[in-house]
Amino acid sequence: MPEGQTVDHKQTVEAARKAFEQEFGRFARFRGSNNLDGLTLVEAEAAQRELVDARTRHTGKKSALASVKKLIGRVAAEDRADFGQQVQQLETEIVASLEEAEATLKEFISVARTERERIDVTLPGTRPRRGHLHPITLLRQRIEDIFVSLGYAIEDDREIETDYYNFDALNIPEGHPARASQDTFYTTEGFALRSQTSTVQIHAMERRTAPLRMIAPGRVFRRDTPDATHNPMFFQVEGLCVDRGITMAHLKGTLSEFVHRLFGPEIKTRFRPSYFPFTEPSAEMDYSCFKCGGKGCRTCKGSGWIELGGCGMVHPNVLRAVSIDPEIFSGFAFGFGLDRMAALMYKLDDIRLLFENDVRFLEQFN
Ligand code: DAH
Repeated sequence: MPEGQTVDHKQTVEAARKAFEQEFGRFARFRGSNNLDGLTLVEAEAAQRELVDARTRHTGKKSALASVKKLIGRVAAEDRADFGQQVQQLETEIVASLEEAEATLKEFISVARTERERIDVTLPGTRPRRGHLHPITLLRQRIEDIFVSLGYAIEDDREIETDYYNFDALNIPEGHPARASQDTFYTTEGFALRSQTSTVQIHAMERRTAPLRMIAPGRVFRRDTPDATHNPMFFQVEGLCVDRGITMAHLKGTLSEFVHRLFGPEIKTRFRPSYFPFTEPSAEMDYSCFKCGGKGCRTCKGSGWIELGGCGMVHPNVLRAVSIDPEIFSGFAFGFGLDRMAALMYKLDDIRLLFENDVRFLEQFN
């Protein structure tokens, strides 16, 4: 091979080196870790990706380096060793430059990522806002605890009822004012939102038969215009005890025990004759005011007494409706409202507050 060609080949190696150095210029700062001031993680990651391309372009099959390597076989035999060494030298330089820059970036990125994910455990956290139970729920749970300790089961039943459970089975005949559509929310024909939890008496006796002891706290609905003492939706607690030989004495004893546990042993009770279709005899029960002890105050409106609710001995017709023989079994029942009781206990002058969902109000029961 003529002399001139060897010179040409050497120039080709030089040209390849120049081309590489020119492009590698922008990665040159990454050859050591001393020039990385101001480098961001995003920039470093971008440079790392570009370096992968650069490596392919400068060491791959179509690279200038690959072309000069092919020339080795074509130079004159006596120049080949020398030329080969130069090409080798170029390759070592290129690969070393790329590898150094890659290593620097890799290290930088790893440190920067760790830094980004570092958590300062001494910083104050974001405190989740804790909720709490609604005042009605708090009162309901206290009442449930008392009755459970007296051997009562808790029943939870449907809020939409048929006329049969809401009225007929409870001995409330056709034509009774409570059945009128101005008092009860009817939904579809024959269905209504229950206007009293007494409906659960029937479901419970159907399911369990006698003997049984249960209370049924739950929502009831009536077509009342809301005011300070009325809401179209409110809570009642129903109670029912059916067994052999149950008398009015058991009713009085149970409800007295209940108010003693809820308000204290000094609380007195009184029963006034009343009327309910599903009890006979029926009574209204009052308890002495937990605030003034019976002397008369604002809470009891000066009377010394607070009304708990209705009660009585389960009407034989109600027992018959669920196939319990009234000759063998007898029982007592009671039902009272939770909202007005909560209003008295928490000194609310308006029961609508309970369902306005104003956190400033509800937070006070935390
Ligand atoms: N259900 C009646 C009402 O809503 C309350 C009531 C009275 C329930 C007497 C009873 C009872 O179980 O025996 O006004």
